[in-house]
Amino acid sequence: MRSLRVVIGLAGLALCAVASAAENESIRLGVDVSRSGARIDRHIFGQFAEHLGRGIYEGVWVGPDSKIPNTRGIRNDVVEALKAIKVPNVRWPGGCFADEYHWRNGIGPRDKRPATLNPNWGGVIEPNTFGTHEFMDFVQQIGADAYLSINVGSGTPAEAADWLEYLTTSQPTALAKERAANGHADPYPIPLLGIGNESWGCGGSMTLDEYVNHLKVYARYARNYNATHPMRRVAVGPDGPDTGYTEAVMKAWKNKTWAWDIEGLSLHSYTVVKWPPAFKATGFGENEYAVMLKATLNMESLVSKHSAVMDQYDPEKKIALVVDEWGAWLAATPGSPEGFLEQQNSQRDALIAALNLNVFARHSDRVRVANIAQMVNVLQAMIFTRKEKMLLTPTYHVFRMYLPFHDATFLPVDFVAGMYKSGDIELPRVDAIAARDTAGKLWLSLTNLDPNLAASIDVDISGRKVTNAKGLTLAAPRIDSVNTFETPGAVAPKPFSAKAAGKKLIVKLAPASITVVELE
Ligand code: AHR
Repeated sequence: MRSLRVVIGLAGLALCAVASAAENESIRLGVDVSRSGARIDRHIFGQFAEHLGRGIYEGVWVGPDSKIPNTRGIRNDVVEALKAIKVPNVRWPGGCFADEYHWRNGIGPRDKRPATLNPNWGGVIEPNTFGTHEFMDFVQQIGADAYLSINVGSGTPAEAADWLEYLTTSQPTALAKERAANGHADPYPIPLLGIGNESWGCGGSMTLDEYVNHLKVYARYARNYNATHPMRRVAVGPDGPDTGYTEAVMKAWKNKTWAWDIEGLSLHSYTVVKWPPAFKATGFGENEYAVMLKATLNMESLVSKHSAVMDQYDPEKKIALVVDEWGAWLAATPGSPEGFLEQQNSQRDALIAALNLNVFARHSDRVRVANIAQMVNVLQAMIFTRKEKMLLTPTYHVFRMYLPFHDATFLPVDFVAGMYKSGDIELPRVDAIAARDTAGKLWLSLTNLDPNLAASIDVDISGRKVTNAKGLTLAAPRIDSVNTFETPGAVAPKPFSAKAAGKKLIVKLAPASITVVELE
């Protein structure tokens, strides 16, 4: 049988077919602790919260008068769950919504705010009760950075400039006084600012030149006045593999004048096989599992492709690649409201999350921010809510298991991955990343993609003796196992440990599982 050799060095991932050992032999995995890679920026574990369906309203905001326990209108259970995964940043208010959002509708007394429309997402009424101050309160409650997307599609540079002045100046301007009158005298920090969203699509269908012309203006005038908190500006970048926006924005940046700058370029790429999304979130078979994992692994070539273009203009890697929309996009839950993008979340989603996070970690020299779509009740969510109840998804558990990788130092790994074959689809049987955490401990994340066979990993840390592996494993009875409000713990991580026998440390991975262990 052929096998895939995976060499994950400091330069990324290489796959090639080689002759391999039998399926039941252990896979030798070497970690080279002498060659440290880049820091795995904790911001790759960012979230995205759009005014879409029940993502904000019900999912985050219930209002101060709700019977659901809340702090100033923001539900306490969701805040606690998000604090536990140390969310580094939240992107808001969209998505497509951002390019039709007018921030002034969302400030001042809530009972005086206008009802507007949300034409992108079901055409529902947007009550504007969750606006700027509520969002900033929310990110402060969960300990995350604000990642604001400004309206480039239907707004004006003056509107964006005013929003930034309102948020960030400490000088006694009229806008700062208005902010204080609305309850916040101190300027806010805005560490990340998106200059438009998908300007090639819902954000204005702009040609390359049109977007670059807008970018220069907005990057200049949407100023951060908060001297103690720097702000990184993120330009709209590619949709999937098309490098048009990557080339155009990077070229403009390379030849820029002193009058504008950016610090990031966005990439959007969902795991979606058909459009409109037709793959079921539950009740799918092995073929749909394998097809989705294959599509997910495509993130590796996408990131490599756009990074290579960026390297031509920015070899010092000053500009971060910001994968600020990623995740599985599946057929909507039957009976859910049109345009609300509600979908269940299975063990397959957990693997999709781990495989994507591994790609970002491997490219941590360039990918320094990423945001899964979306945080609560929408697409590949962390959390589902139903009235007063809250549920954690398999994807949430992966984010929790990956906490040791926040700001850890990437370490190259080398292994013969073997092959998992389903019909004519060939995938590596296992995927792995290693890192040294901020306290100096060594961590491995191991994913067994094969839904039928366990995998044994023979761990070798630069020839050193490893006696113990301890951590968590996420496995499930079926690839489409899900958590429900009736069975919330059906898919949940379990403690995991393995001890060395003689000189060998063998880590046994259940079929279709993710295991994160500390090596001692
Ligand atoms: O996440 C849902 C939508 O997908 C976002 O609003 C948009 O940016 C993307 O097309």
